[in-house]
Amino acid sequence: MKNIIIAPSMLASDFSKIRESLDFVKNNGGDWVHLDIMDGHFVPNMTFGPKFVDDMRPHSDLIFDVHMMVENPEFFVEEFGKTGADYITFHAEACTHIHRLIYRIKELGKKAGISIVPSTPVSAIEEVLGDLDLVLVMTVNPGFGGQKLIPGCVKKITQLARLKEEKGYDYLVSVDGGVGAGNAQMLVDAGVDVLATGSAFFKDPGWTKKFKA
Ligand code: DX5
Ligand code: ZN
Repeated sequence: MKNIIIAPSMLASDFSKIRESLDFVKNNGGDWVHLDIMDGHFVPNMTFGPKFVDDMRPHSDLIFDVHMMVENPEFFVEEFGKTGADYITFHAEACTHIHRLIYRIKELGKKAGISIVPSTPVSAIEEVLGDLDLVLVMTVNPGFGGQKLIPGCVKKITQLARLKEEKGYDYLVSVDGGVGAGNAQMLVDAGVDVLATGSAFFKDPGWTKKFKA
């Protein structure tokens, strides 16, 4: 069985108890820490910025998976590039010069990811798939935790997994939004490598165990 990476989203945790939550992730099978950055423009919600990510860094040895839901990702890439982030993912919809930004992330010594919202097709990022370390398929409209997965988005996971195999690409396929016990197996069967999960993990993380090889 393929080992699936579990990436709990801190958005679903109590920010006033961030150290306890990081320990909870580690002690309950989390492999990565998914960090949702919201700017109040690209999405109608706000979370935290680079300082908070850096403040968390000494308290976890897991991979930090930064998901930027922001306008002007070029600016934020520079800022998160100075933090302890491992992956920096930006939205295709927020960027014109996608290729340039991927290479800037790599120059900063980070892994580069692109995310697409439910209405964006895989074809919008096809030209850069060979340059990516991660593709994050949003299965809800970004901005809030606790929403229901939109089933029509799952075909994009299948497409990305197929393209990866056919062309020998290196990216991980990640899924984010409404992921939990009731649909995780279906997402794994579709070809996903990373399950980003917020509310379902913090409510009861037991369901993630079966995805560990
Ligand atoms: C949504 C965020 C997600 C969110 C997932 O905009 O990008 O990472 O935290 O939360 P759940 O798993 O509750 O949908
Ligand atoms: Zn996210």
